[in-house]
Amino acid sequence: MFAQRPDPRPATVEVFVHGTALKVPEGSSAAAAVLLAGLGAIRETPVNGAPRLPYCMMGICFDCLAEIDGVANRQACMVTVKPGMRIAPQHGARAAKVVA
Ligand code: FES
Repeated sequence: MFAQRPDPRPATVEVFVHGTALKVPEGSSAAAAVLLAGLGAIRETPVNGAPRLPYCMMGICFDCLAEIDGVANRQACMVTVKPGMRIAPQHGARAAKVVA
C-alpha cells in the first residue's frame, strides 16, 4: 500500500579540479565541475593570455578547453565526469608532438 519514495538526492561522483576534490552530480559535464569549483579561469588564450571559463556548454565556443586526465585540449563541456577524473587548467596552446 505504501511505496518508498525515491531518494531525491542525485548520486555524486568525486572528481579533482585543479587538484581539489569535489563532489558533482553523476552525469554532469567536466565544465560544470569547473564552474562548481569556482575557478577564475580554466584556460588562457594563446595569443594574449586572456582568462576563459566555460560559456556555451554545448561545444560551440571552445572556452572550456582543459586538460582532462592528462589529455590537453579537451572540450570540458562535452566530457561526462567519471569517478577520480582529473581536470586541470590549460595554459596557452597545446604543445604538438612532432613525429619524424
Ligand atoms: S563551453 Fe563552449 S565549447 Fe565548451
